[in-house]
Amino acid sequence: MSNRKPGILLSGANGQLGWELNHTLSPQYEVHALERSKLDLTNSKQIRQRVSEIKPDIIINAAAYTAVDKAEQEPELAFAVNAEAPAILAEEAARIDASLIHYSTDYVFDGSGTQPWREEDRPAPLNVYGKSKLAGEQAIKASAVPHLIFRTSWVYGAHGHNFVKTILRMASEKEEMSIIDDQIGAPTSSAFLANTTAQVLSQLTDNPKKGIAENSDTYHLCCSGETSWHGFASEILRLAEQNDVHLALKTIHRIPTSAYPTPAQRPQNSRLDCSRLNKVFGLQPVTWQTALAQALPHIIASQIEASTKPT
Ligand SMILES: NC(=O)c1ccc[n+]([C@@H]2O[C@H](COP(=O)([O-])OP(=O)(O)OC[C@H]3O[C@@H](n4cnc5c(N)ncnc54)[C@H](OP(=O)(O)O)[C@@H]3O)[C@@H](O)[C@H]2O)c1
Repeated sequence: MSNRKPGILLSGANGQLGWELNHTLSPQYEVHALERSKLDLTNSKQIRQRVSEIKPDIIINAAAYTAVDKAEQEPELAFAVNAEAPAILAEEAARIDASLIHYSTDYVFDGSGTQPWREEDRPAPLNVYGKSKLAGEQAIKASAVPHLIFRTSWVYGAHGHNFVKTILRMASEKEEMSIIDDQIGAPTSSAFLANTTAQVLSQLTDNPKKGIAENSDTYHLCCSGETSWHGFASEILRLAEQNDVHLALKTIHRIPTSAYPTPAQRPQNSRLDCSRLNKVFGLQPVTWQTALAQALPHIIASQIEASTKPT
């Protein structure tokens, strides 16, 4: 075995997950962390050029078009980033004998029923974002590339924009808010996602390419347990108070999805069954409450830093 660190091309390095992956994987791997300005996934020529220059062992695609409501107005852009670019990444990875790690979403399902979705369940996305992410998965699976596709849900972290930061900001300004209580899923921190990706890779350290090829599949990967957006918000606020954050908020009302219409329809049942991940890699996700308690001090610190930065 050589002492060379395996090379990773990481796209979307400035996103919630990309940022966390860069920091988590850099000690063990030679990470080429490319944010949008260095690798624009709508530019197929640039994708091919970067892959040829870097010649990574593994491509990790953490970039995505994630504006769920806006995607209804911009389907071409959503499909270019979420479907066409992963197809090119897969093709390029196969060409240089590399493997691909890609992330997808609970929004590939229609949200019917109350059972957690398994990987083999029939996807039926309700919105353009979900359709574009499903097309990306299908392109990777149809390619010859060894791959791991991790479908996750309700992502938040210290870096980037997310529900946790919105709730903290609103709760510091308002005395009342209303949050949806009939969509159920598992909030998942970007730190947990990055750590689990690192744990999976570390199991394959001797030969990550061979390891990925042998376990090439789609895996559900989210924190354990379940809650609604209302339950998630309530826990954020409980922990914020524990962390001495001053809140103006006095009441948090439960509302149904029908009381908060959005351009994109969202699944009501976003539960993901992660037993395949456990069976193949022996990994047991932490509860969403544990991950949130670990992440919240960092999120609060990042918000304080952002609010005190000179503009
Ligand atoms: N966020 C969620 O709740 C959620 C839920 C389920 C699954 N996922 C999946 O998890 C993965 C990570 O999501 P995330 O939460 O980290 O998303 P994110 O914070 O929105 O990050 C996405 C990154 O992709 C970049 N990007 C967008 N268009 C691009 C383009 N044309 N070329 C290159 N980069 C581009 C963005 O660049 P800029 O920084 O320049 O905007 C951003 O840095 C994605 O596959 C997503 O579909 C997310």
